[in-house]
Amino acid sequence: MTEGSRRPIRPADGTLGVMLVGLGAVATTFVAGVENVRRNRAKPIGALSQMATIRLGRRTEGRAPLIRDFAPLAPLDSLVFGAWDPIPDDGYQSAKVAGVLDTPHIEPIADFLRSIRPMPAVFDQQYVKRLKGTNVKSGKTKRDLAEQLRKDFQEFKATNGCDRLVTVWCASTEIFIKPGAVHQSIDAFERGMEKNDPAIAPSMLYAWASLMEGVPFANGAPNLTVDMPALQELAEREGVAISGKDFKTGQTMVKTVVSPMLKARMLGLSGWYSTNILGNRDGEVLDDPESFKTKEESKLGVLEHILQPQMYPDLYGNIYHKVRINYYPPRGDNKEGWDNIDIFGWLEYPMQIKIDFLCRDSILAAPIVLDLALFMDLAQRAELAGIQEWLSFYFKSPMAAPGLTPEHDLFIQHTKLKNTLRWMMGEEQITHLGIEYYEYEKA
Ligand SMILES: NC(=O)c1ccc[n+]([C@@H]2O[C@H](COP(=O)([O-])OP(=O)(O)OC[C@H]3O[C@@H](n4cnc5c(N)ncnc54)[C@H](O)[C@@H]3O)[C@@H](O)[C@H]2O)c1
Repeated sequence: MTEGSRRPIRPADGTLGVMLVGLGAVATTFVAGVENVRRNRAKPIGALSQMATIRLGRRTEGRAPLIRDFAPLAPLDSLVFGAWDPIPDDGYQSAKVAGVLDTPHIEPIADFLRSIRPMPAVFDQQYVKRLKGTNVKSGKTKRDLAEQLRKDFQEFKATNGCDRLVTVWCASTEIFIKPGAVHQSIDAFERGMEKNDPAIAPSMLYAWASLMEGVPFANGAPNLTVDMPALQELAEREGVAISGKDFKTGQTMVKTVVSPMLKARMLGLSGWYSTNILGNRDGEVLDDPESFKTKEESKLGVLEHILQPQMYPDLYGNIYHKVRINYYPPRGDNKEGWDNIDIFGWLEYPMQIKIDFLCRDSILAAPIVLDLALFMDLAQRAELAGIQEWLSFYFKSPMAAPGLTPEHDLFIQHTKLKNTLRWMMGEEQITHLGIEYYEYEKA
């Protein structure tokens, strides 16, 4: 076990502005949730930053503080919220439309929610076919639009007396874009913005503006956004933290727990059929084949990475993996995700696992937004620039340094997250070896 030296971390003094791109179901469930917690009207279930403890030292020491008492995270009372959305609804109207939260979590905080009014968005229907926006910026070039976003960051910070900002993309999934020449360097990207290159989507303009303003950026959707060399280079150059992509909430969270179990026991897999019905606006956007393709790529990569078919061809060399998302309005945000898993065991005898997860999409996503905002702010204060692989825990398609295989297994991600916190705070890493508790080690 190695004891690290504590990383210098600037204190979480003052106000932290959480800049939300998109003020839809996830974003309003997040802000309303934080406000309810702040008023002691609810508990922050699902947020590690608020609920989880972290073991320090040996099991016999009995040291297990809450993460928030261990690492210098921004307190909930210090958070203020800003947002952009092409739909002009304020936080209250948007939360009502989303239909995730019930009256007792909305009406008592109606004034607070109404005070969150979205700034005009950088939005182009070409990238999200199923949406129409009226609260939209105009500009001759993409560069011009991105510069307007930089001003928004500056003005929000000054008006709200913020000491620091952090951005979380909670907006719709954009159409599928393959990384191309324009995404390979800062220069190419900036020239592309001036020439209105169609491979530069609005999400990338928010990310560029955020990084130029020194504001960490987390991407909750499967769009490329910061997951490309140009913006990674910019993050390094500007010393800003980035993370992504695509919040890991329902079906994929389950997938990244069940598939490591199969692999750990060397059980084979012949097919995995996943289907979803959901009826919120996200479901409507994903009903468009081009947005669905972006989501599909993000959901499909998981099994391949965890099961490593090239290393285990007998077990995983011939998997049929299918993911469907069906827009079904009656369910609203209450998604149902079915998984049919065809496995095989000893002597190749077949077996099946069925999972039917009746979840609530935004209820699962909201605590992730909170954790990401707080941990990204921590990373920034600890001067950890660039990709934050330790936050892979929160993402379906986690980003990793070029040349590294991303880690998908939920519990390895969880260990990585906690060990990174221990490392930042100069505590021992926990390897789970445990040999030190036994006589042969003591002798
Ligand atoms: N809820 C989950 O479990 C979950 C999991 C993983 C990823 N996500 C992703 O999170 C995102 C938000 O989900 P949601 O359920 O809140 O969707 P939503 O449709 O309710 O909200 C998205 C909001 O983004 C706005 N928007 C679209 N383009 C924009 C732009 N260019 N600038 C600013 N705002 C823009 C839309 O007008 C809308 O209000 C989606 O991309 C979704 O795929 C959600």
